[in-house]
Amino acid sequence: LPQHTCSWLKDKMTMYKYQDFWAIKRHLQGGIQAQQSFKAEPSDVFICSAPKTGTTWLKSLVFAIVTREKFDESTTPLLTKLAHECVPILEISQVKEHENNRKNSGFPLVATHFPYASLPKSVISSNCKIVYIYRNIKDVIVSNYHFRREAFKLPMEDAPFEEAFEEFYQGLSNFGPYWDHVLGYWKASLERPDSILLLKYEDLKRDPTSNLKRLADFIGYPFSVDEEKAGVVDNIIRFCSFENMSNLEVNKTGKPNGGTLENRLYYRKAKDGDWMNYFTDDMKEKIDKLTDEKFSGTGLVLK
Ligand code: A3P
Repeated sequence: LPQHTCSWLKDKMTMYKYQDFWAIKRHLQGGIQAQQSFKAEPSDVFICSAPKTGTTWLKSLVFAIVTREKFDESTTPLLTKLAHECVPILEISQVKEHENNRKNSGFPLVATHFPYASLPKSVISSNCKIVYIYRNIKDVIVSNYHFRREAFKLPMEDAPFEEAFEEFYQGLSNFGPYWDHVLGYWKASLERPDSILLLKYEDLKRDPTSNLKRLADFIGYPFSVDEEKAGVVDNIIRFCSFENMSNLEVNKTGKPNGGTLENRLYYRKAKDGDWMNYFTDDMKEKIDKLTDEKFSGTGLVLK
């Protein structure tokens, strides 16, 4: 496969190009295996996203929705495990885990960063639900910069933002080009609105209540009037908020089982518009121009 080594990360990360997208080896290996063998079922609920768009948040919310009968703020697994450990992901060979969960407890959630066009075919033919989160490109660029830089323990002065920006702009990001990732799911959601729900990170922040209800309805776990009256929706939103989750001990000091990344890297600032602290006027113009070109005529707005 064509490969690219990221110079701004001091050559510590290499990505490979597979089916029109770039990804690191760790994610490609399991992902390709799952792509060829995974058998989705209609009851599955897929949580899909490009990295750094709010995946951790969406996983926590959906996990809380589907486990809410047993959801207890003092015992939920989200207190002791990173959200990524609560929801298996195809890329890191957790297909078996998902199949066992599905068989033993009917737990429906499974996640992937694979682009729509590269999903296992059965995900589409089974008509299972897909929820996709996406986010302002500029904030994704900044989030990705810090995540990767910190993962390799590089201080900012050793990891030039301009180079990170340029790579992302060229489509060289994990599961990038980001624009194509969003467009793939966007177009699919127009064709299959009953199966695919798109949520915008910024909308989820602005109006968590109606978006959470929409999400629950869509995946077939609607909140009852009694639940709403009892404050279940509010409790989930509060528990999964950045303020709460980022202060949980597991997310401040933990590491996922067998992994190398620290959980805290998934919780940085969660601020809309943080890009303004990093972008020059030229960078802004460049991204806006490319975004206009890529999304022209699609109806998708993502500046
Ligand atoms: P920032 O780097 O801008 O802070 P992902 O989960 O896809 O890797 O995305 C990570 C981004 O989501 C980070 O953005 C992180 O801070 C933010 N995030 C994590 N948990 C969140 C939550 N509960 N609510 C809102 N944003 C959250």
